[in-house]
Amino acid sequence: MTRNVKRIAVVAGDGIGPEVTREAVRVLELLRATHGVELELQAFDWGAEKFLREGVTLPDGALEMLTREFDAIFAGAFGDPRVPSNKHAEDILLGMRRKLDLYINLRPVRLLDARLTPLRERKIEDVDFVVFRENTEGAYCGAGGFLKRGTQDEIATQEELNTRRGVERIIVAAFEYARKQGRKKVTMADKSNVQRFGGDLWQRVFKEVAVGYAEIEANHQYVDAMAMFMVLNPAQYDVIVTNNLFGDILTDLGAALQGGLGLAASGNIHPGRVSLFEPVHGSAPPLAGKGVANPCGAILTAAMMLEYLGHDAASRAVEVAVRLSINAGETTRDLGGQLSTTEASASICRHIERAAQ
Ligand code: NAD
Ligand code: IPM
Ligand code: MN
Repeated sequence: MTRNVKRIAVVAGDGIGPEVTREAVRVLELLRATHGVELELQAFDWGAEKFLREGVTLPDGALEMLTREFDAIFAGAFGDPRVPSNKHAEDILLGMRRKLDLYINLRPVRLLDARLTPLRERKIEDVDFVVFRENTEGAYCGAGGFLKRGTQDEIATQEELNTRRGVERIIVAAFEYARKQGRKKVTMADKSNVQRFGGDLWQRVFKEVAVGYAEIEANHQYVDAMAMFMVLNPAQYDVIVTNNLFGDILTDLGAALQGGLGLAASGNIHPGRVSLFEPVHGSAPPLAGKGVANPCGAILTAAMMLEYLGHDAASRAVEVAVRLSINAGETTRDLGGQLSTTEASASICRHIERAAQ
């Protein structure tokens, strides 16, 4: 839905989710004064606490309400040791991704300060790529089951779903992005040497789609080799496209390359529709309540959301401010600094204000 004042549903979730979401919201609110960004934020208490209290995960009608009344959703994280089945995260997070048909999970991997990467002698330009993770099917389709559960003869099947339509649209999205952003190469990762059916479909569709983008190099790697090359030579990547599970795994590795999960941002996108923005990290139970979580992943996620909503200048201002804070060592402990979650985001806010004066 398009309106002048964009409406954002904020679902802070569990663990460190509320702590980092609070800071992202603080930044969004500051942008009203510095950049004239008018957002209407509405909080929703969906998460482990509500599930344990009321047995409700994603309330009835929630998805229709989000589609009807909101332009974007900002989420913190879902996951709580008191819910070992992860049932609420499955309903809320995977539910929104699947049922709102948010087929692009866009996860940039960008080194903001050369000191942050665990790789030796890398410059910031060596780690700068974007992962297009398929976000609605693959191993996340929920298909499978048990036979003779609980017996010695137990069989568990876990199926993977790859549709022609699903594979094609994520590959097209990756090439379109490369074209628009002037990126030179799209690399597709799969395991088609073993997964003969799904892998075969990905291979064929990738080759077919690539024909329409003659100016962009279409490259393929097996996902195991990609995991190795991401460490040995990350500079070779521009745009990576892959399935849901491989994308999940590779983007935690990508997060490590840029300085850790505390920095990684993501968007769950269906162009033109209400889309969901959330940091890559989870609820990090060991850090929760201590005021030590890095808010940068959430704040950079807010910047991605701003860009999606058409607030390009504000989005860039946030990214620059995060970079300046990090360069100045004004960071939480995971990045080698001394600051609390709130102090780290206060530093980012100061950089935004200073640049806007
Ligand atoms: P996690 O991302 O929560 O944390 C792994 C480790 O990364 C932490 O222990 C911490 O050392 C570091 N880390 C993560 N975020 C950080 C931050 N903001 N600042 C500083 N350090 C940070 O992954 P996990 O421990 O595997 O999972 C915990 C729970 O979160 C599980 O229930 C899992 O299912 C869930 N999860 C949710 C999401 C999501 O909601 N999008 C994503 C990943 C995991
Ligand atoms: C992520 C998370 C989720 C996923 C979990 C919490 C379901 O790891 O967003 O990367 O596997 O997609
Ligand atoms: Mn993950």
